[in-house]
Amino acid sequence: MKEIEVENLTKDYGHNRGVFDVSFTVNQGEVFGFLGPNGAGKSTTIRHLMGFSRPQSGHTRILGKESFNRYTEFMPKVGYLPGEIALPAGLTGYEFLDMMKKMKRATDEKYIKYLIDAFELDPSGETKRMSLGVKRKLAVVVAFLNDPDILILDEPTSGLDLKMQQRFIEFVKEEKKRGKTILLSSHIFGEVDATCDRIAIIKDGRIVSEFVADDLKHKRDKIYRLKFYNAADKAKFIAEDADNTHYKVIGKDGDAVRIAVNDKDVNYLISDLAEYGISDFTHEKETLEDYFMKYYKEDKNFGGAL
Ligand SMILES: Nc1ncnc2c1ncn2[C@@H]1O[C@H](COP(=O)(O)OP(=O)(O)O)[C@@H](O)[C@H]1O
Ligand SMILES: [Mg+2]
Repeated sequence: MKEIEVENLTKDYGHNRGVFDVSFTVNQGEVFGFLGPNGAGKSTTIRHLMGFSRPQSGHTRILGKESFNRYTEFMPKVGYLPGEIALPAGLTGYEFLDMMKKMKRATDEKYIKYLIDAFELDPSGETKRMSLGVKRKLAVVVAFLNDPDILILDEPTSGLDLKMQQRFIEFVKEEKKRGKTILLSSHIFGEVDATCDRIAIIKDGRIVSEFVADDLKHKRDKIYRLKFYNAADKAKFIAEDADNTHYKVIGKDGDAVRIAVNDKDVNYLISDLAEYGISDFTHEKETLEDYFMKYYKEDKNFGGAL
């Protein structure tokens, strides 16, 4: 059953900003990755799903209920972790937790303690004096307080240290095993690769690719690392790559480049290479990051996740 639906959602903020004709669905028990760099439109889409904004056109629904009009009907079943955390001032973490427990009617103290321990949260400080990391952990615990069936996580690991990022990924995997439906937005390939069943890539407000994670694992292009004898050959190869359709330069380091090529095009590559002085030619496995980079190759603003 479709639990999360985005159907032809458009919100045009002008100057080509916003989201345009975005569609995807997340089925019960699925982890769906919504992958894209800063400014791609992830939070805008998610805010519509949560019912905070009215779509300019299109629809968003959770559990079949239109978000903007009927959010009260699904909200108790949804755990939302916002991309940007705003906590009320003048409260300790404990007081904020108590307030949220009442609001969410969360009564399972054992589960709440499990969350606090899992994320090593010390809620004793005052909310506005907390470090960003502690605020994020508090928001994480609050999002899951009432053990909701549907999790909507907007860049959940940003602001967490490496250990907590790892802990979070493990938590998502556990929640998946428990049958939760999860939408996870991220600009981090690794965490999407590690957790998601299906993935949509969003670029400049538009979905450019959607695929089953396992299919990609099996069907990824071949990646080769080519080392050139001299810089001139390397530069020529890169310049000529711009107008060839059989393979793509996806990375450069030192005197080498990494290229992605589909099985059927390996022959083209080999015959092209005869023109260059190559000192090394090695095969690598394509990662989700490589796949993603094919869509973001020309995006100069895309730096954070590399
Ligand atoms: N309220 C708003 N008014 C105007 N522009 C906005 C607003 N919210 C987001 N944007 C713009 O829409 C684009 C998508 O933003 P956002 O959804 O926050 O991206 P992401 O969450 O993927 O980083 C960005 O260019 C952003 O500047
Ligand atoms: Mg965002």
